Amino acid sequence: MKKLEDYVLSIPDFPEPGVIFRDVTSILQDADGLKLAIDELQNLLEGVDFDVIVGTESRGFIFGVPIAYNLHKPFVPIRKKGKLPRETISRTYNLEYGTATIEMHKDDIKPGQRVVLVDDLIATGGTIEACAKMVEQQGAKVEKIIFLMELAGLKGRDKLKGYDVASVIRYEGK
Ligand code: PRP
Ligand code: MG
Repeated sequence: MKKLEDYVLSIPDFPEPGVIFRDVTSILQDADGLKLAIDELQNLLEGVDFDVIVGTESRGFIFGVPIAYNLHKPFVPIRKKGKLPRETISRTYNLEYGTATIEMHKDDIKPGQRVVLVDDLIATGGTIEACAKMVEQQGAKVEKIIFLMELAGLKGRDKLKGYDVASVIRYEGK
């Protein structure tokens, strides 16, 4: 039987020389891979009591929504700047080159709610740290953070000290 790792295509030298790109879309293209990914990610939430799943555009949506559906929880999107129609809060964070800004509707999360954050990947940790800060800015608590893949060599977890963090696949490199 295939493991989840077996569905991930690794593309050398993308997006730049020396980097191995772990392509999550290759999991989705196989029905068994897709099921395994959702099931294993969802298993990381066993015993976790929470109110809402928050996922960030765009790959966080792919994995966050099926889990919310399975567990009968609501899903709240964090989007790239300029996409949400009502009043938003925003956060700008560093990428390897340049910066990015993400937003969420001001009233989508309520004070006191227990939030699970979902994304496909943690690399430098900048994206998920910004998501966690926005959730907390609204008076909610980050109960757990889950990823399908973790690039441990980039030390993204250093930005998430104090949070309960788990990933399905851990790559030791960058
Ligand atoms: C990728 C990935 C994570 C983030 C991880 O998203 O889906 O969200 O980068 O990197 P970090 O830990 O260094 O912040 P990307 O911004 O490429 O956008 P996408 O999800 O729309 O593909
Ligand atoms: Mg992303």
